[in-house]
Amino acid sequence: MAVDLLLGLQWGDEGKGKIVDVLTQGYDVIARFQGGPNAGHTLEFDGIKHVLHTIPSGIFHKNAQNVVGNGVVIDPVVFQKEIEKLAPFHLDLTKILFISRKAHLILPTHRLLDAASEAAKGKAKIGSTLKGIGPTYMDKTGRNGMRVGDLEFDNWKEKYRALAEKHQAMIGFYNVELEYDLKELENEFFKAVEALKKLPFIDSEQFMHEAQKSGKKILAEGAQGSLLDIDFGTYPYVTSSNTTAAGACTGLGVSPKSIGKVLGIFKAYTTRVGSGPFPTELFDEDGATMGRVGREFGATTGRPRRCGWLDLVALKYAIQVNGVTELIMMKADVLSGFDTIKVCHAYQYRGTEITHFPYTLEDDAVTPMYTSFKGWNQDLTGMTQEGDLPQELLAYVHYLEKELEVPITMVSVGPDRTQTIVRG
Ligand code: GDP
Ligand code: IMO
Ligand code: MG
Repeated sequence: MAVDLLLGLQWGDEGKGKIVDVLTQGYDVIARFQGGPNAGHTLEFDGIKHVLHTIPSGIFHKNAQNVVGNGVVIDPVVFQKEIEKLAPFHLDLTKILFISRKAHLILPTHRLLDAASEAAKGKAKIGSTLKGIGPTYMDKTGRNGMRVGDLEFDNWKEKYRALAEKHQAMIGFYNVELEYDLKELENEFFKAVEALKKLPFIDSEQFMHEAQKSGKKILAEGAQGSLLDIDFGTYPYVTSSNTTAAGACTGLGVSPKSIGKVLGIFKAYTTRVGSGPFPTELFDEDGATMGRVGREFGATTGRPRRCGWLDLVALKYAIQVNGVTELIMMKADVLSGFDTIKVCHAYQYRGTEITHFPYTLEDDAVTPMYTSFKGWNQDLTGMTQEGDLPQELLAYVHYLEKELEVPITMVSVGPDRTQTIVRG
């Protein structure tokens, strides 16, 4: 069976958690393939709002198996808290949640290194979630990391100690003020490791292979978004993993030949949290309205998200890099009430009009060029089918499909599971 992918096409927070939850009824396995607790995936159903960070968004469906793949970085401390928050749902996690032995571990000192690195950058800081993501992937590619599978060996604490000591020396190198009690952080970490060890550790590439062979339907859940990809994003203001389609192959050990649908998810506008260029960012009342109506605050850090119009130059680039086969448009309801809706169709780049995504968006090199659409006033949040949607919104959807050359198969009109319109 093919492996379908669901990927964020912007700077993250497109609504991946909600849609994976909606789609899980049609899948047997949901697998996260990259990122870590920098992610915050929000699910709303039955009046409950739940945020997941490392655990895949299929967890509330008892029949689905959830896999944390080798490409993910796991902080046992955050993971333990996530497990505790699931207690009211009485899920038998040992039967539905599987952890790759090859996933790397975030140590407390990785988090400290993240904080030291950001503090040392001053104004040039990335705006990291400070979850230790960058330092953990550095240790992975530097061939120094600790993996989940190491925890099954008696000498894991020695490995831990050697790496933590090296980190302490590195923290000293940054020469910044950092207050912490390492003993306390370590105690918390060791306890959390014991909690993690209660879950099944698997050779996830083998697990995925067998799932495919036995005809299970698999959905790979991306974290972050394409514009935060370590290679194709707005470097250096990116995260430290491949958030794009190819990352699912390396992050799960599935072959490129086995990829089926590539579902690309985007907001009807754009948001970004953290630093870095954002050509269509709005600093006016429209931007403030998007933030207020869309409740645009980071699900992991609570920071306000920067808001702006939809950027087709960036979106086309993301579609191209990922090979998107279907699009899902989120948060259409947030645009209700705008007289005019704008879409950036090209950039003025150093005096020339371009429609490709340039090497850098920095230094004010880019001025967005807009096409305007008539807005709509209707409240969309109770609408259940395409025929209910206002003509102006349908005109917007048709324009996007024509420009992007990919069908928009779902339009989301609210945060709840049920507020999802599947198009014919
Ligand atoms: P993710 O990281 O891609 O899973 O997205 P987040 O959960 O970080 O952010 C998406 C936010 O938008 C969450 O608060 C969701 O509950 C909310 N959301 C998702 N879809 C919709 C929608 O169609 N309309 C509105 N108003 N909110 C939505
Ligand atoms: P989900 O999966 C939005 C951003 C951070 C920062 C940059 C680097 O919920 O869409 P990192 O912590 O990785 O060192 O931060 O990436 N970032 C996200 N922004 N959604 C996310 O995840 C993000 N994960 C990281 O704000 O700008
Ligand atoms: Mg999020």
